[in-house]
Amino acid sequence: LERDLLAQVTAASDETALDAVRVAALGKKGSVSDLLKTLGSMTSDERKERGPLINGLRDRIQGAVTARKTVLMEAALEARLASERVDVTLPLREAPEVRGRIHPITQVIDEITAIFADMGFAVAEGPDIETDELNFTALNFPPGHPAREMHDTFFLAPDHAGKRKVLRTHTSPVQIRTMRSQTPPIRVIIPGRTYRHDSDQTHTPMFHQVEGLVIDTAANIANLKWVLEEFCKAFFEVDGVKMRFRPSFFPFTEPSAEVDIQCSRKGGEIRFGEGDDWLEILGCGMVHPNVLRNCGLDPDAVQGFAFGVGIDRIAMLKYGMPDLRPFFDADVRWLDHYGFRP
Ligand code: PHE
Repeated sequence: LERDLLAQVTAASDETALDAVRVAALGKKGSVSDLLKTLGSMTSDERKERGPLINGLRDRIQGAVTARKTVLMEAALEARLASERVDVTLPLREAPEVRGRIHPITQVIDEITAIFADMGFAVAEGPDIETDELNFTALNFPPGHPAREMHDTFFLAPDHAGKRKVLRTHTSPVQIRTMRSQTPPIRVIIPGRTYRHDSDQTHTPMFHQVEGLVIDTAANIANLKWVLEEFCKAFFEVDGVKMRFRPSFFPFTEPSAEVDIQCSRKGGEIRFGEGDDWLEILGCGMVHPNVLRNCGLDPDAVQGFAFGVGIDRIAMLKYGMPDLRPFFDADVRWLDHYGFRP
């Protein structure tokens, strides 16, 4: 019996077969178990003689099964390692083309944020849907003032109190939010979406601005000019960029100016830092005392300057895009061409 069983154990070619052999020998009704049961009906002399033999048989079969099991498990592991081996020297499969692109607006906002961060400006934000109070009144637009009409405002339906919210027509309301929630010195830029009822090659109903605001005890026009010049040099990547400050009007700044930068235009190609053409890129001025008062600040104690740049416009100029409308068409081919690699 022993030789027979051991042969079966050796012949078992996997763990399932081995287990069947084990059950047939050592299981409840197995052949070795049957032998062990016969011990009960023996005389004590017979038992003394046969007992060790049968127990020894059981131990040897048990041992053989365990040993065989170890061998089989190791063999199985070897087989798996062999079949799952990865050849790290194989050449790479060609990577699928990366389709994602960074939108030019996002790219330009990142560039602007980085340039102003170097000058110590933090970023502030406000909501696209704004109260009439913050978009106009607190910015020193008196009710019924014609400057309100100039903004081609989108109005929302009036609420139960008859108040109409607006889609903000500029990022300037965030000046008010910032001055009301922070204490000077303040140095922030505010990039964001803005809305006006307007559409042609260079105007879309939604567009982008970046606002700048500095409030301090002594911030002055010279500081404003320096900041804007540093910005233009860094953004347009030219050293000696000439800028022209033209007197202008905004209700929330006094004095106010519009800024043009020098460029040349030859055959549709625009170059900065040369030529005798001028392009308007931003509005700016010293924060109006009424605006400071509307924010609980004392015009005798603090003063500051603000500016607002059309992001879309300077993006078009820098990257030579002739038409603004495709910026917001979500056309993947356009984005493929004008977008930036991540
Ligand atoms: N908010 C103005 C506009 O949209 C720009 C501006 C901002 C002017 C800050 C002066 C100061 O035209």
